[in-house]
Amino acid sequence: MNIKESVIKSDHAMKITGEAVYVADHPTDGMLFGRLLRSSKARARVLDVRLPALPDGYLYADKNDVPGANKVKIVLDDTPVFADGTVEFIGDPIGLLMGPDEDTVNRLLERIEVEYEGLPPVLSIEDSDTVFFDYTYAKGNTDKAFAEADHIFEEEFRTGLQEHAYLETNGLIARPDGGRITVHGSLQCPYYVQGAVANAMGFEPDRVQIKYDTTGGAFGGKEDYPSILAAQAAVAAYKAGKPVRVIFGRREDMEFTSKRHPSKCGYKAAVKDGRVTAMDIDVKYNAGAYTTLSKVVLQRGIICACGVYNIQNLAVRGRAYKTNTVPNGAFRGFGGPQPFFAVEMMMSHIARNLGVEPLAFKERHVAAQGDVTSTGGRFHFPVPILLMIEQVAKACNFREKREAYKNQTGTRRKGIGMSLCYHGAGFTGAGERDLIKAVAKLRKYPDNKVEVLTANTDMGQGLNTTFAKIVANELKIPMHDIIIANPDTDRVPDSGPTVASRSIMVVGELLRRAAVRLREQWADGGEQLVEERFKEPGYVIPFDLEKFQGDAYPTYSWAVNAVELEADTLTGTVKVLGAYGSFDVGTPIDRNIVTGQMEGGTMQGIGFASMERMAVDGSGKIRGNSLSDYIIPTSLDIPNLQCMLYEEEYPEGPYGAKGAGELPAVGAAGAYIEAIEQALGDVRVNHIPFTAEDAIEILHKEPSL
Ligand code: MTE
Ligand code: MOS
Repeated sequence: MNIKESVIKSDHAMKITGEAVYVADHPTDGMLFGRLLRSSKARARVLDVRLPALPDGYLYADKNDVPGANKVKIVLDDTPVFADGTVEFIGDPIGLLMGPDEDTVNRLLERIEVEYEGLPPVLSIEDSDTVFFDYTYAKGNTDKAFAEADHIFEEEFRTGLQEHAYLETNGLIARPDGGRITVHGSLQCPYYVQGAVANAMGFEPDRVQIKYDTTGGAFGGKEDYPSILAAQAAVAAYKAGKPVRVIFGRREDMEFTSKRHPSKCGYKAAVKDGRVTAMDIDVKYNAGAYTTLSKVVLQRGIICACGVYNIQNLAVRGRAYKTNTVPNGAFRGFGGPQPFFAVEMMMSHIARNLGVEPLAFKERHVAAQGDVTSTGGRFHFPVPILLMIEQVAKACNFREKREAYKNQTGTRRKGIGMSLCYHGAGFTGAGERDLIKAVAKLRKYPDNKVEVLTANTDMGQGLNTTFAKIVANELKIPMHDIIIANPDTDRVPDSGPTVASRSIMVVGELLRRAAVRLREQWADGGEQLVEERFKEPGYVIPFDLEKFQGDAYPTYSWAVNAVELEADTLTGTVKVLGAYGSFDVGTPIDRNIVTGQMEGGTMQGIGFASMERMAVDGSGKIRGNSLSDYIIPTSLDIPNLQCMLYEEEYPEGPYGAKGAGELPAVGAAGAYIEAIEQALGDVRVNHIPFTAEDAIEILHKEPSL
């Protein structure tokens, strides 16, 4: 078998036939339906909660019912399981109402009266006076570079909320079971959920079992959120002594669960002799009401703030601000897409200020193998960006079109743009080595079938198939002899969360090594267990989080995106004509799966730049809470999507594979906006999403049109 050759996905049949069991498919006999009582105020003290008379079998749980800590263990533990005295955003859970009939629960919920003492909410970064996290780091001597500069350019870029819009909303079932509690449902990270439930219940982790049900997409939106919901459902089920099921409707999911952080990124650049010699960068993220994952999202964001470029002198500051809005969390790219949009536009605008073609200008600055990274680490492996630019440029005639689309007249005008990005593969910094310490196992049964035992989840990215391929390939047995059951913390070791595009690269490699050992020891008809543990590759310069120094990542995945579009200058509407990308994720373990990942992620990246607009009104309420208001691109919106692979093998990954899943969502926004700028007549855009209304606004300001 050639590991790259595509096979039928192992979950294909069960998803096509409907056999796959999602959380909502479990029989509900004897189960209570739970609904969260949520704050209707963005910031308030809760003075009183008055319940209607509850019929037999209906129960309400709140902070007083939490047997352990009323804190959800995420990175820090400031998120309460249920509000304790104050509410910090519209939707902040105050309690949970449950009962045997769903409609009755819904009716009763509406009759609960909450008395608040309202406080003025803080809704924007500008108005916030609470900084959750504040990091700085530097490289070289920026003061000197600015003092010696020929030109200094300054600009600020903004990005908006982005909703994951996974097909399946958040949902979990909690079941009390003797002295234990079991929670199962839609989630990414079983061991994160276990830690959170144990903390809220005051249980040792071995009294908490977390099981994964087939999950209909997550995109980071089920990285931290299930920890919160699981703690709430577990507390409720424990109080009721019965299983409790909480599954959100689309509106509830869109309004009250995590999203991509809105950002404001300020860039100041020094240019000398046609080169950017220094950047002073100020990254600000709107974290929402609680810290959840903002700490780590911000870390990744500031590390990549100078893009794929070798900038000799850097001063970077990053802050995450508290606001009274829904806590923002992980979303494919994990803090990367915001600064990558900003730095790509910054480089493009500097080039235009200097009268040079943006692509040529960017090419001059691209980092090379051996160069020092933003944090004083090294690009240890080849940086194939320049070659990938040629691959994309050829596929879409980039340079010719860029030239041809200058000085257009007429109503419909075309534009083409290109952007460059990377994604640091795996956890940021020393997380993998110090915190996760991943363990993966293979169990061989007497019938010679082999079971993969990891905590990693297949949420659509094809992990069960790629894991099975790796193990089958190494053991030289057919794929159907590999068993991968849904992860269950009672059965699988903690191989870490399914995040940071780490699963194939890190856990896949542990499985490959385990398979090599199993093959060597193979005893026909016997039962055998092999285990592998993560070891950091020897070449890595240890990362120091205090100083932001060292290798933030063991390696990088690279991407070049181009977008061609046509704008109607009368209506402001934009039609994408084609989207092209070259992606280096190392060896693709299954070309179809990887290409599918690249296509889906590119669409999310273009949606982020264009039509995906979610606003917060003056009271702190999210507008655009349905998929008819919040529009995401479909295949009709992005025709001619061509995703190509460029394979730069990573020696520490299985067969040369490195992080794949997030990369395609990181960089496309810059290409889209560069194309918009050209189509609208060399305008400057510094915010996304950029909608038809924004186009009209710009066009009306341009006297030439
Ligand atoms: N693809 C699908 N179909 N569904 C998803 O939820 N999540 C993305 C990406 N691709 C996602 C997806 C995110 S956020 C991550 S971190 C990676 O998959 C995880 O991939 P891994 O298995 O390489 O760790
Ligand atoms: Mo992905 S945003 O790391 O779950």
